[in-house]
Amino acid sequence: MTVLGALHLAVVAHIAWGHVRPLCVLVARLVRIHPKLHVTFFTVKANRSKIVAEIARNFEDGEGDLERQIRVVGLDGNEFNPMDTAELENNFEQQLQNLVAGKAITCAAQQTQIPALQQAPNALIVDIFHYSIMQIARRVSPQTKIWGSGSGSLASSFTLFGPFAQDSHGQQHELVHQHVAETGMEFIDAAFKLIASPSDKVIQGPGLLPMFKYENFPQDRPIKAPFVGLFYLSASSVIHECDAYITQTAPIYEPPEGIKAFADFFAHRNTKMHMLGPLIPDTQRSAKIELEQAAKAPELVTFMQDALQKHGKNSLVYIAFGTLFWCMQPDRIWTVLDVLIERKTPFILSHASPFAKVPDEVAEKVEASGMGFLTSWAPQQTVLEHPATGWFLSHGGFNSITESIDAGVPLICWPFTADQPLNALHLTENLGIAYELLEVRTGSEATKPVYRTGKAPTCTLESVRAEAIFVFEKAFGEDGVKKRAAVQKLKESSLGLWKEGGSSRNAAQELLESL
Ligand SMILES: *[C@@H]1O[C@H](CO)[C@@H](O)[C@H](O)[C@H]1NC(C)=O
Repeated sequence: MTVLGALHLAVVAHIAWGHVRPLCVLVARLVRIHPKLHVTFFTVKANRSKIVAEIARNFEDGEGDLERQIRVVGLDGNEFNPMDTAELENNFEQQLQNLVAGKAITCAAQQTQIPALQQAPNALIVDIFHYSIMQIARRVSPQTKIWGSGSGSLASSFTLFGPFAQDSHGQQHELVHQHVAETGMEFIDAAFKLIASPSDKVIQGPGLLPMFKYENFPQDRPIKAPFVGLFYLSASSVIHECDAYITQTAPIYEPPEGIKAFADFFAHRNTKMHMLGPLIPDTQRSAKIELEQAAKAPELVTFMQDALQKHGKNSLVYIAFGTLFWCMQPDRIWTVLDVLIERKTPFILSHASPFAKVPDEVAEKVEASGMGFLTSWAPQQTVLEHPATGWFLSHGGFNSITESIDAGVPLICWPFTADQPLNALHLTENLGIAYELLEVRTGSEATKPVYRTGKAPTCTLESVRAEAIFVFEKAFGEDGVKKRAAVQKLKESSLGLWKEGGSSRNAAQELLESL
């Protein structure tokens, strides 16, 4: 590595925890690689302490000096609504002006002054869903490089936020404007309709099998979220205009065609792409924190130990749909639990979503069976790494996938939306480390044909049940052994990514050297 002098990196991150957490890991690792790097990490003031704690777990004891080089700055702003960003943006603009002028800045969370640094930020990390931050930075600090940060897989980002070609910049915006002109719709609604709504169009990600666009929405949405269309437009703009693209993926998680598609696109724009995944805490300090957290759920730990003793290694199914998603026809979930109880397969269901409600009769049935453990919170890494755990039934968000692969646990996908259906396609058809449940689909498009099978699911409770029986039989049979072997192989590769000489570590070094 060439010798680098003092550097200043700024970050703005607040949109969703799944986007923020990997950046907490990244900045800590960058500082550990380059001890002369200073980081100013902006977020909404209400979330500051959570982020401080998350960054801290990526250091080891005795690294306090390095830790202090990351200054987390709380800004006044709305922590609940990711679209209400005006206040946050105004405050960020002021603070950035101060930073550029070499002045001290103020943290709104602590009402403290954060000392001036000698240099304006050399680079700013911007979430791809927050284009306006990029525009502010270009205006206030044109010398600062912008690193767009994407949080899904490359193949899905290319499909969802594209097109990405030599002349593609602004194309999507143009289409939306035309639609507004033709229909008189609001821009936000037109964007939602054209970009982020089901249709019969066939879409195909690089290196993925084709699917109908409606298959990207296999589950009814509890709330209509029209801002998703604007998010996708923002991602398109940031990816087209950034000076470098950083992602928490790595070649082992992607179809080679997905990597190539973006690499070719960026090559034309003279932009570099840096694959930095997985960005999951891996310090001894973090392992200790995981253990402490697991100790807060002693019954869950006991349940896993019992499962290991009674049913053996890899016998347990861990079910979790992330902190947000939940099936709007939860009978489907209860049907799957019934199948597990009948098979005498132990399971843990983590129902963290605010939309989740477990009826008393379901809780009682599970309790009486002794086969299941229901909880609104589970220490996910601990559960995945436990020897009892055999399968992860998951919505297939990118963080969950990388955590599962890195723990060597194959998956059963129950995707909801966004990148999840595309991820499921890659995991099942390309990597061979997962099954996908197709009969659990809900909503008006549920029973339309699945492109890759040519068949339409029936999506009744009977068909959900039949599919669950079939899939668990395969998973716990010979076919499942093959999938487990495949995921174990990926796990081995993933362990080397951030080691000395690993591709993600090299990519991080290159990123610093680009300054
Ligand atoms: C910030 O905090 C609010 C309130 O606790 C929470 O709803 C939101 O999800 C948090 N955002 C992030 C990115 O963690």
